[in-house]
Amino acid sequence: MNIPFLSLKDVTALHGAEINEAVCRVVNSGWYLQGKENERFEQHYAEFIGTKYCVGCANGLDALIWIFRAYIEMGVMKSGDEVIVPANTYIATILAITENGLKPVLVEPKLNTLEIDDDLIEAAITPKTKAIAIVHLYGRDAYTDKIGELCKKYNLKLVEDNAQAHGCKHTDGRMTGSIGDAAGHSFYPGKNLGALGDGGAVTTNDEELAKAIRALANYGSQKKYVFRFTGRNSRLDEIQAAVLDVKLKYMVEDNAHRKEVAHYYYEHINNPLITLPDLLPDDQNAYHLFPILVGEGKRDVLHDYLEQNGVGTVCHYPIAPHKQECYAKEEWNIPQLILPITEHLADEELSLPIGPSITLDEVHTVTDLINKFCL
Ligand SMILES: Cc1ncc(COP(=O)(O)O)c(C=O)c1O
Repeated sequence: MNIPFLSLKDVTALHGAEINEAVCRVVNSGWYLQGKENERFEQHYAEFIGTKYCVGCANGLDALIWIFRAYIEMGVMKSGDEVIVPANTYIATILAITENGLKPVLVEPKLNTLEIDDDLIEAAITPKTKAIAIVHLYGRDAYTDKIGELCKKYNLKLVEDNAQAHGCKHTDGRMTGSIGDAAGHSFYPGKNLGALGDGGAVTTNDEELAKAIRALANYGSQKKYVFRFTGRNSRLDEIQAAVLDVKLKYMVEDNAHRKEVAHYYYEHINNPLITLPDLLPDDQNAYHLFPILVGEGKRDVLHDYLEQNGVGTVCHYPIAPHKQECYAKEEWNIPQLILPITEHLADEELSLPIGPSITLDEVHTVTDLINKFCL
């Protein structure tokens, strides 16, 4: 038996003919950067997310880096200012903050939602706080009215990391990625909307921000050979934009399959060693990943047992960002920084196979194996 965590080959094959056609169209066009494919995809993605602007860029990390950098260029933030961020995110969210000389202030998640604990945010706000970065981790809606109210009360920017949540909606029907002042999106191949390589985008309703980001991702230039900022080359290429435009058409359908898979897991996993995060209303979870928590120190044992039985699982993420070597010497990462929930999640989280191409039979097999584990 072989049930991979995610088969990118199978995912691409779902819309293979159209993807091939799109790639060939670009190859034969002779135009590979900053052309009609980017224009078309940016327009469609902005419409899908519900923002006025979408700016394509090289990857999701850059998308987040450019948001903070543009705010610095616009005079909204300056080096040394603080950004509140969930402690249990993929490290890219934090890298985007520190890359800009800003200070991440890590806030614990809630154990039942896995998202930032909005009850802990206000105590973390200081006169230096300029933004709250929320991460719709695992595809789950992380926004709450309380977060919106805090942003208003303290005049903070709300930055969304929507790398894992394409197609997720908040309770009021707004798409994640359109709720805050700006959002970073990743089109890394394994994402719900994945390219055939790296890709990313920023969505926003702020024209000045969108223009600054477009320039920053193009060497800092708004006009050929005229450089307003010291930018970088961080563009989305035409082949990726063409592929993403094909996959965007099918994403709602693909996400619906993810929901079916997730419902099966929710209804049938009954091993007492395993805890599932709170079930959200369907629209509020794009089910990018299906995280479970495995108790009694058995996470790695379950991973190995499933692997021996031909099932791929991945831990997201085994070492929390504040425990990473790259931040060991940072002045904000003092040893007193105790984040027990984040560390608990790093010890217990395991993501089960989910995606647009896994079959329900495969999901039944994974579930049976899990229910038999250690019983
Ligand atoms: C939450 C989160 N933020 C940011 C990123 C960075 O995206 P990319 O891999 O496209 O740089 C990722 C994905 O890898 C992610 O999962």
